[in-house]
Amino acid sequence: MRVLVLGGTTEARELAGLLAEDARFQATLSLAGRTRAPAPQPLPTRVGGFGGTGGLADYLRAEGVRAVVDATHPFADRISANAETACALAGVPLAVLTRQPWMPGPDDDWRLVPDMDAAAAALAGLPDTVFLTVGRQELDPFMELRRRFVVRAVDPPDTLPAGAVLVLDRGPYTLDSEMALMRSHGVGVLVTKNSGGDATAAKLEAARALRLPVVMVDRPSAGSAPRLYAASDAMAWLAAHATSAGA
Ligand SMILES: NC(=O)c1ccc[n+]([C@@H]2O[C@H](COP(=O)([O-])OP(=O)(O)OC[C@H]3O[C@@H](n4cnc5c(N)ncnc54)[C@H](OP(=O)(O)O)[C@@H]3O)[C@@H](O)[C@H]2O)c1
Repeated sequence: MRVLVLGGTTEARELAGLLAEDARFQATLSLAGRTRAPAPQPLPTRVGGFGGTGGLADYLRAEGVRAVVDATHPFADRISANAETACALAGVPLAVLTRQPWMPGPDDDWRLVPDMDAAAAALAGLPDTVFLTVGRQELDPFMELRRRFVVRAVDPPDTLPAGAVLVLDRGPYTLDSEMALMRSHGVGVLVTKNSGGDATAAKLEAARALRLPVVMVDRPSAGSAPRLYAASDAMAWLAAHATSAGA
C-alpha cells in the first residue's frame, strides 16, 4: 500500500523507521525543506511544498497514495489544514501522529497564552532576561521589545531582536545543561510553544528547578482526523487500512 508521511519531526522519523522495515507498505516521507542539514531518513524522501491543498490532492492521486499520516509538528498548522482538505478531496484516509502536550505541575509557574503576540505582551512585568525557544520564524512579535533576549534555534534566524544572544543547537537537552545555560545567561523567564515530547522538555524542568516563570504558547486548534500518540499506533492504523483496502 502506498503511504505518504508528512514529516519534519522525531515522530515522523520513528514512523519512517518502522515503515522501512515493513514490506506491506511503500512509503514516502515528505519534508518542507526548512532545515539546512536535515538528519538522514530511512525512507525515500521528497522535499518542498506541494503548492497548497490542490497540489497535495493532485500528488496523492498521481502517486496512488492510499493513506496519509500527518506527523508534522503540532505548530505546523498550515500543512495540517491542507492535509485534511486534500485527503478529503482525494478520498484518502488521514491520521495525525503527534505528541501529548506538556502539562504544568504544582511547582510550575506557567502563563498560558494563545499565540506569539500574546506571549510578547505577557512579558510585561516579568524579569528582563528572556530565553526564547519558539523557533526562528516566530521572532517578529519580540523584535521591538527592549529586553535582553537569549534566542535558541536549530538554524540561524534571518533577523534577531537587537542585542540578542544566539544559541544554535538542536538538542536533545538535559536538565543539567539547561540549568547551566539559563544560569550563565541570567535568564529570568522562559518563552516556549507547547510542542510536547521528551527531547526539549528539560527546559521546563530547569525553569521549575530555578523557579522561573514560563510563558507557554498553546497549540493551534486541531482538525478532525484521528490523533495517534505513538509510531506503533500509526502502524496499526495503517495496517487496518491496508487490510480494508485489500493491499
Ligand atoms: N512550526 C514549528 O514549530 C516546527 C517545529 C519543528 C519542525 N517543524 C517542521 O517544519 C516543517 C515546516 O513547518 P511550518 O510550521 O513552516 O509549516 P506550515 O506553516 O504548516 O506549512 C507551511 C507550508 O510549508 C509546506 N510544508 C510544511 N510541512 C511540509 C511537509 N512535511 N512536506 C511538504 N511541505 C510541507 C507546505 O507548503 P505547500 O502549501 O506548498 O504544500 C505548507 O503550506 C514541517 O514539516 C514541520 O513538521 C515545524
